Amino acid sequence: MTNHKIIIAIDGHSSCGKSTIAKAVAARFGYIFMDSGAMYRAVTLYALRHKLVADGEVKREELINALPQIKIEIRYYPEIQKSDTFLNGENVEQEIRQLPVSQNVSPVATIAEVRQAMVKLQRKLGENKGIVMDGRDIGTVVFPEAELKFFVTASAEIRAKRRFDELTAKGETVSFAEILQNIQERDRIDSTRVASPLRKADDALVLDNSNLTQEEQLEWVIGKVEERLKF
Ligand code: CDP
Repeated sequence: MTNHKIIIAIDGHSSCGKSTIAKAVAARFGYIFMDSGAMYRAVTLYALRHKLVADGEVKREELINALPQIKIEIRYYPEIQKSDTFLNGENVEQEIRQLPVSQNVSPVATIAEVRQAMVKLQRKLGENKGIVMDGRDIGTVVFPEAELKFFVTASAEIRAKRRFDELTAKGETVSFAEILQNIQERDRIDSTRVASPLRKADDALVLDNSNLTQEEQLEWVIGKVEERLKF
């Protein structure tokens, strides 16, 4: 048995509960949690505010030129398993979860220069290991050497239902059809883009949680982490 720290990469489709798993694993092992999607969302919010993206059309060159002006910071509070995302010093955690950002984030995330800047930030956060990071390319591009990788998925309908319930519970009025359409569209863009497409790393463990409860999936994931920490 050791108390060495590892890097845990959790990739998968949108809205399949990666962040929930990642936070719970981080809490269990005293690791840092990092939601890489929040970074792409923050860049997208900047682009929306500066009219560099609208209806999924990105002003690519202008956004690339603006990258040095976009400072993103994520603060994680382990006691409450929550994090806040800051864009140039402003807390934008709420705003980056709303539909206008969700509808424009995948096109923004196809831009190789945007990805390079985010990956640089993500690698820095992983320098000391002891981190659980969730995203699309964590096991394939950001930390190909991660000691443990998961690839999480579930059917699009089930993911849309979960996202719908989550937003409704927060008091937001949303349409199920719109959410489902957004999930399917993001799956398509994320999987077919040229720069770091969403794909399972060869050495990732697959978790299809369509028919699992939160407790069941967490038990399975924690079992795998404990096994990995033994050697
Ligand atoms: O919360 P949800 O799973 O729906 O998405 P997210 O993790 O917040 O990521 C939002 C979007 O950012 C994704 O649909 C991807 O287009 C992009 N993303 C990415 O390209 N690479 C990552 N490592 C994380 C997110």
